[in-house]
This record gives sequence, C-alpha cells and structure tokens, in this order.
Amino acid sequence: MKSFLINRYGKGSPLQFSQSPEPELRENDVMVQIHAASVNVLDAKIRDGEFKFVLPYRLPLILGNDLAGVVVRVGAGVQGFKPGDAVYARPNQDRIGTFAQYICVDEADIAMKPRNLTMEEAASLPLVALTAWQVLVERANLRKGQKVLIHAGSGGVGVIAIQLARHIGAFVATTTSAANIDLVKSLGADVVVDYKTENFEEILHDYDVVLNSLDKDTLEKSLRVLKPGGKLISISGPPDPVFAREKSLNWSLRQVVRLLSLRIRRKAKRRNIDYSFLFMTANGAQLARITALIETGDIRPVVDRVFPFEQTNDAMAYVETGRAKGKVVITIQ
Ligand SMILES: NC(=O)c1ccc[n+]([C@@H]2O[C@H](COP(=O)([O-])OP(=O)(O)OC[C@H]3O[C@@H](n4cnc5c(N)ncnc54)[C@H](OP(=O)(O)O)[C@@H]3O)[C@@H](O)[C@H]2O)c1
Repeated sequence: MKSFLINRYGKGSPLQFSQSPEPELRENDVMVQIHAASVNVLDAKIRDGEFKFVLPYRLPLILGNDLAGVVVRVGAGVQGFKPGDAVYARPNQDRIGTFAQYICVDEADIAMKPRNLTMEEAASLPLVALTAWQVLVERANLRKGQKVLIHAGSGGVGVIAIQLARHIGAFVATTTSAANIDLVKSLGADVVVDYKTENFEEILHDYDVVLNSLDKDTLEKSLRVLKPGGKLISISGPPDPVFAREKSLNWSLRQVVRLLSLRIRRKAKRRNIDYSFLFMTANGAQLARITALIETGDIRPVVDRVFPFEQTNDAMAYVETGRAKGKVVITIQ
C-alpha cells in the first residue's frame, strides 16, 4: 500500500512516499481503508524526534494520527463493527500510521463516523475532539456556569474545545488574532481577546479552568486569570511527574520531567491552583459520545484546507506555519 513515512528523525525533514506492506490484523482489530486523514502538530513533533523518549517508535514509521474510512475486514474477536461500516478514529499511540491506504485499529479505539459528515470532516476530529473531551470533561470536570479560558481558539483543538465548553454551559473566553474573531464567536466564545493587541491576563479574572496549548510565557500568565482552587491544564507542556509515572518513564527521565515542570508547579501551588499536563489517549467510547454531539449539531468540524494524498508534505508544512484555522485534512481514497 502507499504510505508517507519517516526512516529517521529529523527536524523539518520531508516524509517519504513509499510502498509499505499492508498492516497485520489482530484478533480485536478492524482493518480500515482510509478515505481521509488529518494532520496534527503531533505529527511534526514525532517526525522531529521530540517524542522519541516518551513514544519510542520502531522506524520506519508511517505517520498520521487521525482517520476516517470504511471497515474492510474484522478480527475474530471483534463484536461492534463489520465490513462496510463507515468509521473514524485516533488509533492507539503505539499503532499510529494513518498517512496510508490501510490501517488496523483495535475496536476499542474506533467509533462509527457521524452520519452528517463527509470523510474529510470526520477525519478532522478524533485527536482534537478527544483532547478537548479529556481536558474539559474528564480532567477539569467543567460545569454549567463555570468560566473557562481556551487559548488559541482558532486552532485545531481550540475550535472543538470552545464548542464543547459551550455545550456544557460554561462561559467561554478565548485568545486569537483579529482575522479569527468572527470564527471563534460563531463557535460560541463569549469573550475574545486579540493576543496581538491585548494582554489576556489583564482582562480575564476569576476563571475556573484554563486550557493551555501555547508557550511557557502564556502558561505562567494564565495563573493570573484563575481563581484559587482553579485548574490550569496544559497540553503543550511541560509534562508533570504524574504523567511521567503513568508513562512508566525510567528514573532519569522522571527527574527531567520533574525539573521541567518544577517552576510552574511551584508558582501554581503558591496561588492554590492545580497545574497538570495532559497527553490525550485513544478512546472509542468517548469518540462515540462525541459522534452523538456532532449528529445533534452541538459540535461542528472546522476544516481549513484539504490536500490530496500526494501533497501530504505540503499539508504538514501548512500546519507547521501555526496559522491554520481549525484543521488540515488529507484525502487518501
Ligand atoms: N497533549 C495533547 O494531548 C495534545 C493534543 C492536541 C494538541 N496538542 C498540542 O497543542 C498545541 C496546539 O495544537 P493545535 O492543533 O490546536 O494547533 P494549531 O491548529 O496549529 O493552532 C493554530 C492556531 O493557533 C493560533 N495561535 C497561534 N499563536 C497564538 C497565540 N499566541 N495566542 C492565541 N492563538 C494563537 C493561530 O491563530 P492566529 O493565526 O490568529 O495566530 C492558529 O489559528 C500543539 O502544541 C499541539 O502539539 C497536544
């Protein structure tokens, strides 16, 4: 099958268009013919080697963390899916590879594709929607009437997180630049801070939750937005000791992680704020709940650009500009 892969880690190096063997179907797997995939910042970080200690992949590695497609075969133990089903998924982190014509995914990680979406729209969702769900619903336990700041509201995660927070009934503030203000308002943001002309930490106060996806500076300033007892949840780092334990990192890596997050954890503690890092995980059951919200129209995908499969490297480069409005998708089938 055709695929885009990396043979070695290298910052900014292009993916190689290759012929790869078809993936092996395990007992609880479904084999999916991939119709569309989406590009995540994570793909670029993996290619650059930023995750090689946390996610030690064997190379060559087919990249790609999101898919929508049609089931073509199922393993002997599969109960919930059959050939012909239209599905979407973020495969388990150990079994990525959606920049390809086929992939095998454990049925626990997959869900039926929302009926009202195209394959491209569906492929734009799993990783970012699961991230938003795991931050806002699972970790923050966000409630109706609470105030949440979602940084980079026009980004892949932001466009879904705003809608999910709004669906929960929270009051939503977000940061973006002038060109995207109408977009984030249309998704349900109550307050929009233009990060190029305003300082969000001087405008927003007494928030319950902040979802940070930006740099260290933004992370530290976000402490000023939260009330005592509030939660600062970062998906862009620094990782914390709980994450290091969950990932079973070795002793020296655990010390590195502890030091990386020492400053923000200390600062947060002084203000009685709970700092945590979250790295999303594959979860078909949560994705099925997201499907329901999409089919009722509570959440809609935001697709910025669609690229043909052959132009996967251009799609990666576009995501790496950091200017995407929502998601960047690749049509495969
Ligand atoms: N830990 C996890 O599980 C997890 C999961 C998903 C993503 N992430 C991480 O989260 C980060 C964001 O991912 P993403 O997919 O949402 O990124 P993205 O789609 O590439 O974000 C692009 C958007 O960010 C906005 N932006 C850039 N700088 C900004 C700033 N200073 N203030 C406000 N908005 C700004 C841009 O708006 P303008 O054009 O207006 O600047 C653009 O619309 C990445 O580092 C990614 O690796 C982590």
